[in-house]
Amino acid sequence: MSPPRHFLDLADLTPGELRQILDRAARFKAGDGGSSVMAGKTLAMIFEKPSTRTRVSFEVAAFQLGGHAIVLDGEQTQIKRGETIADTARVLSRYVDGILIRTDDPAKLEELARHASVPVINGLTDRSHPCQIVADLLTFEERFGPVTGQPIAWLGDGNNVAVSWMQAAALLGSELRLAIPESRRPAADLVRASEALARQHNGRLIFTTDPLAAVQDARAVITDTWVSMGDAAEQDGAPDPALTPFRVTEDIMAVAAEDAIFMHCLPAHRDEEVAASVLDGPRSAVWDEAENRLHAQKAILAWCYA
Ligand code: CP
Ligand code: NVA
Repeated sequence: MSPPRHFLDLADLTPGELRQILDRAARFKAGDGGSSVMAGKTLAMIFEKPSTRTRVSFEVAAFQLGGHAIVLDGEQTQIKRGETIADTARVLSRYVDGILIRTDDPAKLEELARHASVPVINGLTDRSHPCQIVADLLTFEERFGPVTGQPIAWLGDGNNVAVSWMQAAALLGSELRLAIPESRRPAADLVRASEALARQHNGRLIFTTDPLAAVQDARAVITDTWVSMGDAAEQDGAPDPALTPFRVTEDIMAVAAEDAIFMHCLPAHRDEEVAASVLDGPRSAVWDEAENRLHAQKAILAWCYA
């Protein structure tokens, strides 16, 4: 039996594989069949953190592909009482045809993948959020064509979404300018690995602390919450003040390309990481981006079962 095809991180894919997933997502969006890709198959989804988009879009995606999804609240499984991830992987693999997990520590995702005999999907960890970036790429490309060679700006926290964007830009050869305070840059090993990928595929990752320099003529300006799920700041409620100069405002958008779009994975905090007038304004692509999660999830599932 061939090993299962996991979807753990964009950096595990070749540019050709990522392109194949994106093309499939665009075809699903255009109404192209595929309704039996998951016929008779069940996806188990373990959520150790909250979710609206990931949970609903995957459940609908499985249904539209002829399959079914079961949601497992992390609090209500035996993992919570100490059953190992490895044993959970072995047991679930006897019932279901795929396992998605949203968790904190990427080591848990990796352990699940090591011990499951069915595809495992990364539904977000503290390190990365690859499913989101497939939807983001689809959103960008349906307006501007291939991301290759295109300038894209990330402003704010160097979090899990930023890391998956680094990997995508590196793989597909775009110019990603990351305006992030020094203290909040992604982990050095992840940056080094993405830079190595970028060198291989003609991508460029440019780190700066100057948001205006990053957005100059960019086709897309992207941000995310300043307080991610599980961050220490979730307890004391205050985002890191170092992030304040990185808010996406009308003034910031004015420096981007004339047709530039604003993207955000959501949930958003109006007038924190983004001005309400930008999020709700004419250049905002966030609702298409949210819709595209569904088409992206279908393409990811189809890729796992190819
Ligand atoms: N963007 C995203 O992953 O949203 P949820 O947390 O609602 O799944
Ligand atoms: N960076 C955010 C993304 C939420 C979809 C978080 O991890 O909370």
